[in-house]
Amino acid sequence: MTVSMETIVSLAKRRGFVFPSSEIYGGFGSFWDYGPLGVELKSNVKRAWWRSMVYGRDDMVGIDSAIIMHPHVWVASGHVNSFTDPLVDCKVCKNRLRADDLVEQKCPICGGELTEARQFNLMFKTFVGPVESEASVAYLRPETAQGIFVNFTNVQATTRKKLPFGIAQIGKSFRNEITPGNFIFRTREFEQMEVEYFVRPGTDEEWHRRWIEERFQWYLKYGIKPENLRLRPHCENELAHYAKGCSDVEYLFPMGWAELEGIANRTDFDLKQHTTHSNRDLSYFDEETGEHIVPYVIEPSAGADRAMLAFMIDAYDEEPDNTGTRVILRFHKDIAPIKVAVLPLSKKEPLIKVAKEIEHALRKTFVATYDETGSIGKRYRRQDEIGTPYCVTVDFDTLEDKAVTIRERDSMEQIRVPIAELKAALREKLEPED
Ligand code: GAP
Repeated sequence: MTVSMETIVSLAKRRGFVFPSSEIYGGFGSFWDYGPLGVELKSNVKRAWWRSMVYGRDDMVGIDSAIIMHPHVWVASGHVNSFTDPLVDCKVCKNRLRADDLVEQKCPICGGELTEARQFNLMFKTFVGPVESEASVAYLRPETAQGIFVNFTNVQATTRKKLPFGIAQIGKSFRNEITPGNFIFRTREFEQMEVEYFVRPGTDEEWHRRWIEERFQWYLKYGIKPENLRLRPHCENELAHYAKGCSDVEYLFPMGWAELEGIANRTDFDLKQHTTHSNRDLSYFDEETGEHIVPYVIEPSAGADRAMLAFMIDAYDEEPDNTGTRVILRFHKDIAPIKVAVLPLSKKEPLIKVAKEIEHALRKTFVATYDETGSIGKRYRRQDEIGTPYCVTVDFDTLEDKAVTIRERDSMEQIRVPIAELKAALREKLEPED
């Protein structure tokens, strides 16, 4: 089914996935806060990515580099000069707009006349130390990638990895976007999940193809519907200043097809730039040929917030039921923020005591919750709406047969399981994807 962004924003707010940042002050500039369910959901997206990209492979290691780096990094990378968007101002309503988004040369808000376009750098500036001067200017990183490039030699020397190998990083990036919007799709503070995969020059195009396919499959594996996913190669004129080629994995968001992830061939651009600017040798000694080479780099670069939004939209479903409409987030089990809810059939002792004991035992292994408020039907709906794959119901028979019912979210099928076997049964169902 197709769902509007308003429906997702409203569900996200109502159930505690995402709140506007600083909401009591009216919100702020396209920044968002992740609530109790949002933090679990986003962590699961990042964990699934890390499992696939790092733990699942023997040619990958991870790092976590600083957000604020030496300012020369951004001169070398080209971001100080080239990380810009063309900006125009409306002379009448004073709104600022991206020139490349405009269909006509007049303000789309009030029809007013626009200024000439000028280049606007998207990096956030700050000062390091107590003196606010040109000499103390630093930037919040606009991509995590540069933390990987400047650590290439450190990582290679300490891990003794041989080409081809990759370095993965997940972390915050910041961009002073001119036109943020569409909820958490484009924000000024966001998280990236990036890999820089270092290969021998000449093998880069083959690796680029492989990574495009691998990353496309990752979204399908975690439940994105194939009809909502496509690949789009970049045209020459939209390539970033460092890229020889790039393909985007695009998702069919409610506002149309848009980028989820970019997979770029960054060539040897970054390592060479940092070699020149730092005067340090960032080459790799190839034992096979006995030569020093500068590796080429394939970069699959995804957004954690954007992926989380796509997973929410894709999982959203509604179906008629006896109370009107059942809203379901049909999340893949690895992505679902809460894995198990324990529900006593009635708010009476000793059912509550037994149910709480079960929940306490389960929460050591799974992200579990407990709910005793409202009718059992309402409580199932509450869990369906946040995508909980399994509900465990404790009823009056439980007191006699020492068994509980496991109800599955999508099929609503119920099976009876002895309490003694419950954890093992759930573990089997919830075992993470390889
Ligand atoms: N290192 C390459 C790089 O940063 P990018 O295409 O500019 O490439 C990669 O960004 C991914 O980061 C995007 O596909 C998107 O998922 C995410 N991203 C970029 N800008 C974003 C923003 N303003 N808000 C949310 N996510 C963003």
